[in-house]
Amino acid sequence: MTAPEIPEATPLGERGRTGLGVVQAVAALRQEIGHLRREGHRIGLVPTMGALHAGHIALVRHALEAADRVCVSVFVNPTQFGPNEDFAVYPRDEAGDAAKLAGAGAHLLFAPSADEMYPEGEVCRVTVPGLGDILEGAFRPGFFTGVATVVAKLLIQASPDIAVFGEKDYQQLQVIRRMVRDLHIPVRIEAAPTIRESDGLALSSRNAYLTADERAIAPELYATLMEVAHRARHDRATANVERWASDRLIEAGFTSVDYVTVRDAETLEPWPGGTRPGRVLGAAWLGRTRLIDNVPVP
Ligand code: PAJ
Repeated sequence: MTAPEIPEATPLGERGRTGLGVVQAVAALRQEIGHLRREGHRIGLVPTMGALHAGHIALVRHALEAADRVCVSVFVNPTQFGPNEDFAVYPRDEAGDAAKLAGAGAHLLFAPSADEMYPEGEVCRVTVPGLGDILEGAFRPGFFTGVATVVAKLLIQASPDIAVFGEKDYQQLQVIRRMVRDLHIPVRIEAAPTIRESDGLALSSRNAYLTADERAIAPELYATLMEVAHRARHDRATANVERWASDRLIEAGFTSVDYVTVRDAETLEPWPGGTRPGRVLGAAWLGRTRLIDNVPVP
């Protein structure tokens, strides 16, 4: 990955509250964060892979409510992409991202290169067995090891007080919570709700891959998950509901369905029903684009 063409950071202390500082090296990030800490600020971190949209910006706003200085990382993390996945073509827009972050009031952009995050000879990985092996982990082997590894690095590098993740990637959120708990990483993980288009489609950088015809079908995923959540509430036979949902998506024009399933909202094991909070999660293909979404059982 080539380093983004963005200017060197001006030390935050010299700029006061306004303006976006940009750093690309871990040492520079540490220096900036150290400076903010000595000034007594509470630090929020928002990890992203860039191509920022309103869903990401909502996380920045959330972080600005919970912390008074917000750092956003933009890094398309190679270790979370499978060999046949879209790493090479994943949308990248460094200049647009920096402008959106400045407009949202973020204070610091950390945009490291792949060599900075994974220096020559590095070998260590963070795995979350169990939770990281089911659902997305089963369809994308190694995905959550890549995610947990890069998020652990970012949390150690930036040492924020809070870090914000979207419910859009619900299993990712649970994997990160588990990692932070198990490794005693001193950070509070906060969840922000999914931002959607007016027709219900969850915002995603990958929506850019959809053709006009596929885009018209895409909102069916959210509509179907909502209906599953409603039916699961009133009918304990979730296996029937899950089968019904897959059929409905195929009829709507989806190419294939990886899963639609009702799970315990915390463990992601099959939902026992009753008073345990439930979550409906789904992943399905529209042509060459894979969409994921999830909703709570009401
Ligand atoms: P990315 O897909 O860029 O998403 C960054 C953050 O934005 C994640 O926490 C994700 O859940 C959140 N997000 C994405 N779309 C959203 C939406 N429509 N509404 C609300 N939040 C949304 O997730 C990743 O990057 C990576 O796996 C990362 C955690 C950065 C590790 O590389």
